This record gives sequence, C-alpha cells and structure tokens, in this order.
Amino acid sequence: MFEELENAFTSSLEELTQAQTPADLDIWYKGSLGRKGKLNLMARRVGQLEPDKRPEFGRRVNQLKKELEKAHKDRQDQLKGIDLDSVLAADGLDVTLPGRRPVRGGLHPATMTLRQIYRIWGDMGFQIYRSRDVETDELNFELLNMPKHHPARDMWDTFHTTTPGVILRTHTSPGQIHAMREYFPEPIRVILPGMCYRYEQITARSEIQFSQVEGLAVGTKISMADLKGTLVNFTRRMFGLERKTRFRASYFPFTEPSAEMDVECILCSGTGCQVCKYTGWLEILGCGMVHPRVLKNGGYDPAKYSGFAFGLGPERIAMLKYSIDDIRYFWSNDLRFLKQF
Ligand code: DAH
Repeated sequence: MFEELENAFTSSLEELTQAQTPADLDIWYKGSLGRKGKLNLMARRVGQLEPDKRPEFGRRVNQLKKELEKAHKDRQDQLKGIDLDSVLAADGLDVTLPGRRPVRGGLHPATMTLRQIYRIWGDMGFQIYRSRDVETDELNFELLNMPKHHPARDMWDTFHTTTPGVILRTHTSPGQIHAMREYFPEPIRVILPGMCYRYEQITARSEIQFSQVEGLAVGTKISMADLKGTLVNFTRRMFGLERKTRFRASYFPFTEPSAEMDVECILCSGTGCQVCKYTGWLEILGCGMVHPRVLKNGGYDPAKYSGFAFGLGPERIAMLKYSIDDIRYFWSNDLRFLKQF
C-alpha cells in the first residue's frame, strides 16, 4: 500500500509535465487531486491497513497531496509565462502596418522669400555674406557717413545694449564695411541678409525685428546704369517680366545719388487700390551709388573704385506677393497663418 501510494505520486508528477494547456491542467487535476483522483482513492483505502499503520499512511497522503498542489501551481505559472511569450512573439509588433505619419513642417514665408531672393542674386553672381546682428555705433552709423548727432540717425530708432557704443544693428548696411574690409582690393558682389532691430512701436506696418537683404557691388567701372539694370532684372524675376518699375530720387547718407525703387502694384496692376494707397506703385527698396566716404571707410579709393548698394525688406516683399496685410503675422508664430504657405 505504501509503495502503491508512492507510485501514484510519481506517476502523477510525471503526467503533470505533459500538461501543455490550461485544459490539460484541469484534466490532470481531476485525475490526481480531485475527489475521485488517484490520491483520494488511495486515501479511502486506509481501512485496509493495520490500525497502527493508518495514521502514518494518512500523514503521508496529505504530505504528497500538498506537494502535488504545489507542483500544479508551479506548472500553471510556467504555462502562463509560455503563453505570454508566445502572444508577444506572435503579435507584439506588426511591421506590415502603415507607419504613423510624421507631422510635416514647412518653411516660414520669410524664409521662402529669402531663398527666392538668394537664388536670383546668386544667378547674377552675388555671394551671400553674413555679418553680425550686434554692431558698434561706429559701423552701424559713423562709417556709413553718419557722424554722432547727424540728423539722419533719426531714420533709425535704435536698441542700445548696456555696453556704451554697442547696439543691435538697425539695418544690414554695416555689413558693407565688413565685406569691403575683408575683400579689398578685390571687386565685390555680395548680398548681406539678416535680422535687423528697431526700437519702434509695433504696428501692422512696422515690427521691432525684421529681415533685410543688403546688396553691394564694388569695382572699377560700376555706374548708375549697372545699378538700374541689375535691380530691374531682379524685380522682373521676383514679380514677373511684365511688371513695370520706376526709380525715384531719395536720400540716404551712405549713397550719392540715392534712389528708391517702386514696382507697379501687384494687386491692382497700377490702377490704384488700398494696398498701394491709390498710387499704383509699391516701394520695395532703397538704393544708390556707394558714397565716396563709405568706399574710403571700407578701404577702397573712391578715385579709382565705384560701387552700388541697395537694401530691401523680404517681409515687405512677401507681404506684397501674398497679399499679407499685417507684418505682425510673421513673428507671432500663429500656425493658422504659417500653414497657408
Ligand atoms: N539701410 C537702409 C535702410 O535700412 C536701406 C538702404 C538704402 C540700403 C539704400 C542701401 C542703400 O544699401 O543703398 O533703410
């Protein structure tokens, strides 16, 4: 009897290792530990033993039942683990699913306009020359023919830093001096793009920060005709071949003579509308022949060299091209505006 009991136990343990699924485990449980399972059937036969052997037999039955219970629990846990592993292996990652679309960004309208400007000037042989946003009073004003207390300085309201004489550039024109000093005595054809800063009231037409693209050509036989021809070519590529242009005499301290260039209003084609204030023309840039004093400050002898320069505002041009009526949209980071480009 004792031996039979031990055999029943070992065969049960053995069977348990064969169980592969929860259903197998249930069947095994019934057959080994159930009411009519092997162990209980053995227990019922206790009466067949000598009375003095019975308690020992009973104890052994209970002990073996406990061991089988534990073995059952272990196998159950083991199967759960295998089950999870197979689920993970089967459908953890379905690489055939279409991916999540990344959110696509776009270029800022000012950047788009800038790049278009670079391309046109690049085609005409102008290189991009970058110079700093933080400038000295000397470069931003003095070397551009605006000595201290010169009334022309009033055209540029200035942000000053806490270091005397160090300011945020009010225009890209100081880049002319940097470029000339670097290139002398070579001829120069550069554009100087960058952010400018003015201490101004922010309105629909003026911002405290905006970009500018300065242009500079210096050489031995550069004339006003070169200035006009080059700028007309630029506006044609920017606004279309048919677009009319005109030059008006103007004043800038760093050019002599100075002019401003207008294009025929792109909204009304010159017939007059709100945008062009019923003049039919839109001002797009300032320009002129580089002032002899500025040439000299850049290191070039004005008796031998001449040059032309211009300054235009990409945001202004973008506003004209896309009929944007408020410059504040450019730097307010409003996606409803930015997504339209
Ligand atoms: N620096 C001028 C401004 O910010 C624009 C300008 C005018 C630049 C005439 C030039 C120029 O180079 O020749 O208003």
